[in-house]
Amino acid sequence: MIRILMVCLGNICRSPMAEYIFRDMAEKRGLSQLFYVASAATSTEELGNPVYPPAKRKLYSLGIDCSGKRARQMTKADYREYDLLLGMEQWNLNSMRRISGGDPEGKIHLLLEHALHPRGIDDPWYTGDFDTACRDIQEGCESWLDVLTGKKAT
Ligand code: 4NP
Repeated sequence: MIRILMVCLGNICRSPMAEYIFRDMAEKRGLSQLFYVASAATSTEELGNPVYPPAKRKLYSLGIDCSGKRARQMTKADYREYDLLLGMEQWNLNSMRRISGGDPEGKIHLLLEHALHPRGIDDPWYTGDFDTACRDIQEGCESWLDVLTGKKAT
């Protein structure tokens, strides 16, 4: 089983969307047994809070229920326990490396690292653009699924 932790600043918008979308895509490909997916924040701002309503609505429009999710912060132990820790933007990667004390095993990557145009995902908490964030997240999840299942060369 491949253990993946999706990480963003607050764990109420982008990383929960990535967690649920990745799980849904893996299920639809018949690969749910292959992956364990969770999500976490780099900050303490939203700890214990549910997914932000516009992100929750976006997931709901895709047929995904995220009502049980509550924000939690990434820990140093997460670095040991997960195989892959995917940040939404460069700033997240810096914070993740600070929490883990570096990345000696090369586990920390961008969600859109394998996209046609590798890039960060703008924070919809600030932009208000949940459609673009969701499309970017779908692209990132799809490309990582392709890489991890050998459908796409790195
Ligand atoms: P996220 O968005 O990192 O995509 O979950 C944010 C949510 C909350 C805050 C910042 C970003 N905040 O500062 O409370």
